[in-house]
Amino acid sequence: HKGGLVLGIESSCDDTGVAVVRASDGAILGQAIANQVDIHAAWGGVVPKLAQEAHEAAMDSTVEQALQQAGVQLADLEAVAVTVGPGLSLCLKVGVQKARQLAAAHGLKYVAVHHMEAHALVARASAPVTFPFLCLLVSGGHNLLVIVHGVGRYSLLGSTLDDAVGEAYDKVARLLGLELRPSGGAAVEAFANEGDDQRFKFSMPLRMRPNCNFSYAGLKTAVRLAIEAEAPGPATDANRQVRADIAASFQRVALTHLQERTQRAAGWAMEAEPGIRHLVVAGGVAANKLLRSKLQGVAKDKGLDLVVPAPQLCTDNGVMVAWAGAERLALGLWEHLPASALEDAWV
Ligand code: KG4
Ligand code: ZN
Repeated sequence: HKGGLVLGIESSCDDTGVAVVRASDGAILGQAIANQVDIHAAWGGVVPKLAQEAHEAAMDSTVEQALQQAGVQLADLEAVAVTVGPGLSLCLKVGVQKARQLAAAHGLKYVAVHHMEAHALVARASAPVTFPFLCLLVSGGHNLLVIVHGVGRYSLLGSTLDDAVGEAYDKVARLLGLELRPSGGAAVEAFANEGDDQRFKFSMPLRMRPNCNFSYAGLKTAVRLAIEAEAPGPATDANRQVRADIAASFQRVALTHLQERTQRAAGWAMEAEPGIRHLVVAGGVAANKLLRSKLQGVAKDKGLDLVVPAPQLCTDNGVMVAWAGAERLALGLWEHLPASALEDAWV
């Protein structure tokens, strides 16, 4: 097997992502993604059974597309990496089954990848981020601050006590009657640009808790109550401005909360690990422009370099899995699947 080529497969939620990364130099040779926005939009959230079917329908052609773009064939690969969790189990299964089939049929090394590790490590594809670094992971399902000491070595500084920030954005998008395209978060961010972020004084979560944890349940409820009180019923031209003010006020508090906790975490992290040079933001919410500018402030204050991967690398994708797979492969962290793996329905 030449060049250490790794195929990465991501199917933990509602994106079928596949990519080819060359482990020797980290080059991204091919990438393809099939998203399911149209399938779930009508339901106001991801429906696991429908997501599974869509992954099954898209998997083979997405793999084909990534390989074609990379100009390689299955026989050229050294390893296949796949997200094994966390995520929707019905959806994870589709990717894992495909990866196991490919590994068994073509004698490829098999690399199991943790979804959040992939989000964190892919920052190293876009910038020369060295270990250890501080990472804020913000997505629809996760909200964490970690020190990344190395591949597979993490210290958790804080996490959410209830909802993740992306989940709160998605919920607020639904409450406001916004179209969940390309995502609830992106819709709220765009709508908030029309609003006055000082109009509603939602209280800052966990103000009296000087730690690095997060909470979004109270803010979500406050937004629901504000809509019921000031702009009830369906979205109309008449209540559009109030709703935009609510969106802007929600976003100010939601992101200031992230900023404050990250500021504190940076202090903690740099005391524990004086070698930290980078603040990495990962996960779907990292696409938010206002969040980027707030974190730029934190980084400047702490003398760190802020690294935010390109938006298409922040949301779920195959590149991050192939990249994490390549990092693991380089360290010998792969598995050999027995030939019987082909018959195993699911492990
Ligand atoms: O990482 P990701 O693609 O999937 C998960 O693992 O959850 O993150 C998706 C989340 C969704 O909750 C989406 O609403 C949020 O990221 N998101 C945003 C923005 N773009 C996506 N949240 C706030 N502002 C955005 N611009
Ligand atoms: Zn994700």
